[in-house]
Amino acid sequence: MNRGDTVELKIESFAFGGDAIARHEGWVIFLQGALPGETVSAEITEKRAKFYKAKLLKVLKPSPHRVKSPCPYFSECGGCQYLHVSYEGQLEAKKKQIEDLFTRLGKIASPPIKVLGSPEPLHYRNRVKMHLLKRDKKVLLGFKGATGKGLVQVDHCMIANKTINENLTPIAGQLQKLRRARTVHIRSNAEGKVDFWTDKLALSKGTTLMEKVRGKAFETPSGAFFQVNPAMTDTLTREVESFLDKDSQVLIDAYCGVGLFSVLFADKFQAVLGIEQDQDSIRWARKNMRAYGITSGIFYEGSVESNLERALANNPDKKHSVILDPPRDGLHRDAVRALCRKKIHQIIYVSCNPSTLARDLGLLSSTYKLLGVTLVDMFPQTMHSEVIACLKPAL
Ligand SMILES: C[S@@+](CC[C@H](N)C(=O)[O-])C[C@H]1O[C@@H](n2cnc3c(N)ncnc32)[C@H](O)[C@@H]1O
Repeated sequence: MNRGDTVELKIESFAFGGDAIARHEGWVIFLQGALPGETVSAEITEKRAKFYKAKLLKVLKPSPHRVKSPCPYFSECGGCQYLHVSYEGQLEAKKKQIEDLFTRLGKIASPPIKVLGSPEPLHYRNRVKMHLLKRDKKVLLGFKGATGKGLVQVDHCMIANKTINENLTPIAGQLQKLRRARTVHIRSNAEGKVDFWTDKLALSKGTTLMEKVRGKAFETPSGAFFQVNPAMTDTLTREVESFLDKDSQVLIDAYCGVGLFSVLFADKFQAVLGIEQDQDSIRWARKNMRAYGITSGIFYEGSVESNLERALANNPDKKHSVILDPPRDGLHRDAVRALCRKKIHQIIYVSCNPSTLARDLGLLSSTYKLLGVTLVDMFPQTMHSEVIACLKPAL
């Protein structure tokens, strides 16, 4: 096979990341825009050491899951990968990717994966990160291109909520003077309030937005993390709650942000310990707890890897539920070591990156067995998945 050759391919699956995978003459070929089960004609565009890349030319036999993308930017914009796939097909693909990652990276067998889809697969995001494009002395907003190179100017995003879309042009207007800024984060809440900050200057520094989950308010400062899909945040917290063991006495909320799990579950435990390294987030976690008169919470400011052991030692004879909700990089090796040094009553790992989750579950498998896995589809239309894994000590 050479660059420029046209080949007929039968698509096998989606790779993690959304590219379609096919095999030809014993080689793996990656291409964008095709769906599992389809037969397509494609042009070979690149040869790498272990695989080829190709460009989709024509779909010869379409998948029943192929749909017309509702977004005019889809072919160029790198924000979404699955707008051409039915929502049912997206959930099926994500479930299979998680099973494959568990086997390939974690070397563990997954129990049957429960799948919880988003009630609104479009216009669900309450937060976006956009790039500033400077054209003809004007600042415009956009996303990274699908090829990973360049930026695509966008006036309306199919996964951002109405408030964000209505505010894109006014915010671009307010950014005109910030010529050195490269990115802007825009966040909105259910009351229609908007906060935004750039990489160079937090325009609204010191402000907070109030997010409500299951009737509880969480003040969240500019720059701090909060879940991006409100309907699925409700689902996520209910699913985590369903995994919580009734026998547990102490909750450790590792990577606690502004205290989402600590506040929601405090009444189920004798004590709650939150760990978070972002100073603003932990300050608000404390305040969010106090706002509900909860006095059983202690929050450690610092990394989980350097504070987990101390947190576990705090109530050594009690049964612990440890919720881990790390960023995409997953757990630091020292955090894994601290978890494996004890037989913790129960671990609930909430992950926004199934590949680091698979790696970490593999590392934890010497001490813990995997009892339950749920895919909570926080990020429809995109390659991203939120997964909850529930672990108990192996006998
Ligand atoms: C995915 S968010 C989860 C936040 C919270 N559980 C929630 O649902 O709102 C991850 C959080 O971990 C924090 N973080 C990142 N690395 C950390 C580390 N090594 N130790 C402690 N916190 C960390 C981030 O600041 C962020 O607030």
